Amino acid sequence: THAIRGTFFDFVDDPWNHVGDEEASARFVKDGLLVVEDGIITAFGPYSELSAEYGDVETTHIEHRIITPGFIDGHIHLPQTRVLGAYGLQLLPWLQKWVFPEEARYADRDYAIAGTKRFFNNLLASGTTTAQVFTSTSPVCTEELFEEATRRNMRMIGGLTGIDQNAPEYFADTPESFYENSKILIEKYHNVGRNLYAVTPRFAFGSSPEQMEKCQQLKKEYPDTWVNTHISENPHEIRGVLDLHPDCDDYLAVYEKYDLVGPKFSGGHGVWLSDDEFKRIHDKDASVTFCPHSNLFLGSGLFRLGKAKDPAQKVRLSFGTDMGGGNRFGMLQVLDGAYKVGMINNTILDGSIDPSRMATAESERNKLSAYRAFYSITLGGAEGLFIDDKVGSFEVGKEADFVALDWTQGPAGADWHSQLIADGGDPVTVDDAANMLFGIMIVGDERAVDQTWVMG
Ligand code: GUN
Ligand code: FE
Repeated sequence: THAIRGTFFDFVDDPWNHVGDEEASARFVKDGLLVVEDGIITAFGPYSELSAEYGDVETTHIEHRIITPGFIDGHIHLPQTRVLGAYGLQLLPWLQKWVFPEEARYADRDYAIAGTKRFFNNLLASGTTTAQVFTSTSPVCTEELFEEATRRNMRMIGGLTGIDQNAPEYFADTPESFYENSKILIEKYHNVGRNLYAVTPRFAFGSSPEQMEKCQQLKKEYPDTWVNTHISENPHEIRGVLDLHPDCDDYLAVYEKYDLVGPKFSGGHGVWLSDDEFKRIHDKDASVTFCPHSNLFLGSGLFRLGKAKDPAQKVRLSFGTDMGGGNRFGMLQVLDGAYKVGMINNTILDGSIDPSRMATAESERNKLSAYRAFYSITLGGAEGLFIDDKVGSFEVGKEADFVALDWTQGPAGADWHSQLIADGGDPVTVDDAANMLFGIMIVGDERAVDQTWVMG
């Protein structure tokens, strides 16, 4: 048993449920104690209340930091670690020219090991402790994901990423190879240590009806597995999918046809989802991932955050880098991108950036406060990935993954935060902390991520 003493900030509810009173969704403990046993949180609260019982426990005192739960990346591609920042193309030609050739290299064990190490180092440096991960068509890449996650004791969701059409022959798999390899990987890794397996058809444009049937069969044989894919990202992709499935009225209907949409299903991007698709995702308790940098970098479009958070049909929502498609590894930068997408969406909705004209309920929901932002990459992300019983907050019984943020580190050095906090020092109130977190997500970068802790 050991303990961490410091200033903690986490969430007990979705701040979108508390318009005008967002701090009610958060929990700010200025001088707190987090007690960890075998990686699990066994006590959490104000130091003054816990010191009698835990005063003798070996304690690490983390001073002048805000400690939040580890960040959760809902959508990232491990084998794209070395194709960041490819110039000039939108989704489909970008995949062909840059992504498939690079991902094909991950059939080579040594290449996969080196790329996987770099992938995990980048995650931890950015404060990301959990991710839902796409791999490649080669089982080698998926094996290395889970082997390295096991070595680092990190909770990862991922799976062999199938594509048997609209891909070059050297990279494509087949429905049979996808099924057989997925089965072996599920048996070997799912629920072993912290690993969770996701049946992963890359996207409906890349998986034939036969491969989709194999996904349906896998999910039926292993109902406890996750399902991860892409949905409604780019107009050319969507047209292609609807051409392939003339019996489907929209993109979501393809995944529905193969019984994949329900709890533990995540669709990445969802830029062009209709109101009706959001409603069905809500009704089926499935999930969407908002990947702002990727949607901007590849020119895919503007995700309708305010629609996804419509109380009448709110969907589970994680945020993701979509690294490869996204051009930043860190979730703090994703928050910066998400904030800006909300602002642009509101210009489109309201025709003005004048706050007095941001009158609609949807445009209010597009605004990414620090509360909404940090919720979305911690507890909200965990809910979006159906792992909120395991991670995402400091609730007793959860796994002790957390980051210590240093608000003085960043492009403006130690000065900018003193404008936010009257005495220039540590946050005193929950609003002080939220102001500092907003500064970190908009002005800062991973220099603010001072420490990343996994399982205590
Ligand atoms: N759709 C299918 N594959 C991919 C991918 O690798 N990245 C993105 N952003 N979208 C995809
Ligand atoms: Fe993606």
